[in-house]
Amino acid sequence: MPARRKTFKSASSSFWMKSLGHLVAISSLCGIISGYSDRERVHDLMYKYPLIDGHNDLALQLRIRHNNRLSQIDLHNVSKVATDITRLQAGHVQAQMFAVYVMCGAQEKDAVRLTLEQIDVVRRMCTEYQDFQLVTSAQELRNSKDRQKIACLISIEGGHSIDSSLPALRMFYQLGVRSMALTHTCNTPWAESSSKLYNVYQRRNNSLTTFGKAVVEEMNRLGMIVDLSHTSWDTALAVLNHSKAPVIFSHSSSFSICDHSRNVPDRLLHELKKNRGLIMVNLHSNFISCRNEANISNVADHFDHIKSVIGAESIGIGGDFEGAVNFPRGLEDVSKYPALIQELLQRNWTEYELADVLRRNFLRVFEEVERVRDQLSANRPSEVQIPLEKVQNSCRLVLRPPNPKGLPSSSQALHGPKGLLILATVLLLSSSIMIE
Ligand SMILES: *[C@@H]1O[C@H](CO)[C@@H](O)[C@H](O)[C@H]1NC(C)=O
Ligand SMILES: *[C@@H]1O[C@H](CO)[C@@H](O)[C@H](O)[C@H]1NC(C)=O
Ligand SMILES: *[C@@H]1O[C@H](CO)[C@@H](O)[C@H](O)[C@H]1NC(C)=O
Ligand SMILES: *[C@@H]1O[C@H](CO)[C@@H](O)[C@H](O)[C@H]1NC(C)=O
Ligand SMILES: [Zn+2]
Repeated sequence: MPARRKTFKSASSSFWMKSLGHLVAISSLCGIISGYSDRERVHDLMYKYPLIDGHNDLALQLRIRHNNRLSQIDLHNVSKVATDITRLQAGHVQAQMFAVYVMCGAQEKDAVRLTLEQIDVVRRMCTEYQDFQLVTSAQELRNSKDRQKIACLISIEGGHSIDSSLPALRMFYQLGVRSMALTHTCNTPWAESSSKLYNVYQRRNNSLTTFGKAVVEEMNRLGMIVDLSHTSWDTALAVLNHSKAPVIFSHSSSFSICDHSRNVPDRLLHELKKNRGLIMVNLHSNFISCRNEANISNVADHFDHIKSVIGAESIGIGGDFEGAVNFPRGLEDVSKYPALIQELLQRNWTEYELADVLRRNFLRVFEEVERVRDQLSANRPSEVQIPLEKVQNSCRLVLRPPNPKGLPSSSQALHGPKGLLILATVLLLSSSIMIE
């Protein structure tokens, strides 16, 4: 992004290099008085260590507002949202985990199709625009910075997207998904949400079932980052105990500062540190101040607190833009990240710590997840299946041998061989229509 760099007077630009010492002294004195010097320092730091952000729901907004019709908009400048290419570049956002999120109402319905469609729109966005680059490895992520691209990582937000199927999980990996939040606001048949919004799959004292453990193991084997934002604390604890690789909270803040169930309590932070994982602080006002309004100072309090508990090496940023409506004053869109870094600099965070928070911590975690994958490379793909009684799903087609002696009962009609026959007929008809 050198072209943009010119818009910020860089401390290392030739003009300053050639300046007389006393001029520099005077100008930096003026800088301190006007606040300019800090801004310049932030932009230099973020030019060198541009942000890798953990969570953004632009794909959801593309569905809601544009029905995923990318041809109708210009991603350089999108109105009524907080994210577009122009503002990502202005905010020194060099990499973004884009969530592919489908509402919990789709669980046991068409969650898999909807997830595929969201993956499609992120893949299109990140391949049709030269400014973006879809990345699927830590090395590609590193290289994308040198190529001056905004790297796109795909993350599934909610385990209901895999419909309790490890083969579906593996196919999502093949499509480029490199992280998955185990739940959104609904429990899955195998993991528990922090939200009580839906009462499906409630369970007691079994927040990560045998199948849930198999999901975590398969994600470890594939090299897919486990994301614990949105899970219950019990589920988070069980995963932290079970995962062989570091995990992340891609967009959660500190429960000690704001006691919202989406935030992370200190005792879990200690477990996260043992796991060598990462908490990427969410900027949504309601998780920051527990109110609809917040300011940058409130956000920095979360960073200070988490640093005091587990150190700057365990912290990242997961803005959650497009996934929520209220954001702190001064942090209204993705171009505003430098204001947060400036606040942290003023609170005596070192440039080393901030470089960690901005990108090095995430790169370390991603690389370690890949290392664990390599260590597990002798393991075969898991063939664990969820017991049928655990998925209360009338849409689930179960293959059974034909039963010529009697017709299937009406409730089984679409599950048995007759259902398959109907399906085959429909497929034949639709293909002949397409041929015509
Ligand atoms: C974005 O588009 C709006 C009109 O939709 C225009 O007013 C604005 O100047 C544009 N911004 C940029 C950075 O191009
Ligand atoms: C479930 O866990 C709670 C604490 O979270 C405990 O009080 C209770 O006894 C447990 N119940 C069972 C059946 O183990
Ligand atoms: C952690 O895992 C061990 C077995 O690996 C188990 O004995 C222990 O109960 C687990 N602890 C929690 C909190 O899940
Ligand atoms: C931020 O909000 C807090 C209240 O939560 C207030 O005490 C503080 O003065 C505000 N800071 C700024 C810089 O506005
Ligand atoms: Zn979320």
